[in-house]
Amino acid sequence: MNYQEKVKLDYKKLKEKKIVRILAIESSCDETSVSIVENGRKILSNVVASQIDIHKRFGGVVPEVASRNHILAIKNVCNQAAEEAVLTLEEVDAIAVTYGAGLIGALLVGINFAKALAYSLSKPLIAINHIHGHIASNFLSYEDLKPPFTCLMVSGGHTAILDVQDYTKIKLVGTTADDAVGEAFDKVARVLGLGYPGGPKVDKIAKEGENNIVFKTKNSLKHSYNFSFSGIKTAVINYVHKQKQNDEELNIPNICASFQTLVVNELADKTLRATKEFGHKKLVCAGGVAANSFLKQKLTQVCAEEDIPLYMPELRLCTDNAAMIASIAYYYMKEGINLADLTLSAKSSIDLSTID
Ligand code: KG4
Ligand code: ZN
Repeated sequence: MNYQEKVKLDYKKLKEKKIVRILAIESSCDETSVSIVENGRKILSNVVASQIDIHKRFGGVVPEVASRNHILAIKNVCNQAAEEAVLTLEEVDAIAVTYGAGLIGALLVGINFAKALAYSLSKPLIAINHIHGHIASNFLSYEDLKPPFTCLMVSGGHTAILDVQDYTKIKLVGTTADDAVGEAFDKVARVLGLGYPGGPKVDKIAKEGENNIVFKTKNSLKHSYNFSFSGIKTAVINYVHKQKQNDEELNIPNICASFQTLVVNELADKTLRATKEFGHKKLVCAGGVAANSFLKQKLTQVCAEEDIPLYMPELRLCTDNAAMIASIAYYYMKEGINLADLTLSAKSSIDLSTID
């Protein structure tokens, strides 16, 4: 029996196994991460090697630099993940890897490492959609959380409202017409000279400011579930340039607070409307921007008013990590989907509502 025939049978048999440990690899952007998770819920290890310090000096992620640093880090990160889980690589049941969306070169490092690992260990290889992984970060934070629910997905690359009917049955309800919300945070931070990554910096500085600047934007998407953040971002940038031209001092905390309030209110209003329309009893938030303290505060408040339970991942699981990839891989396995072969390649973008 060749590798592919063997893993096809093994993948089916895994559904019946009581304890399934999946080793996952995540390298879609600037974090090299390897994790081992048991039955989709219990983290045995989650090693994240961040490249933030390397990319900081460039003001953003440089794809080539990211790929090169993934290559340097991945073997040690993998060994460390096995060590922390107190397991040998032979003891894991399957290998999972993010195949998209993300930076092609960065993804390819993780994919090729995963392929070599899966082939040499003769284990099934599971191809994972990064965004589904973000949703699963909540399954790790809340052991009783199960679909259906509405999900607000807010990351550096995506902004979406998702109707999560089941673990692998996800419908796209609304998305962004232009910039992702994390991208808007990062660009505003850059124009204010706050550095990279901008989201956490805007969040922190906004705490000292007041929401007292009106950034005028046209909102033609008011009645839909779609978002547009480039208008807000441009309004902030224009305001900053105008102030500078007029030699007026910039009140950075107030700019951050006003920008953040505008964005968060827009996210909260539409998500709540969608949650009510779909009749879901729960709202789940996911992605790097879920770490935003004002978003958490606002969603907590509106969900309490409407009596809707709110789930937001632990801070360490909001941004990219392999534990969330290993978690969703378990549910892909239960459905018997996305068993990859050795021709697996990277995808820079994936339709949010499709599995493969
Ligand atoms: O999910 P993630 O780690 O990577 C992608 O898949 O894109 O998200 C990264 C994004 C960045 O844009 C970062 O600025 C933003 O999440 N972010 C935040 C906060 N922490 C991270 N944005 C606002 N407030 C935060 N506290
Ligand atoms: Zn991400």
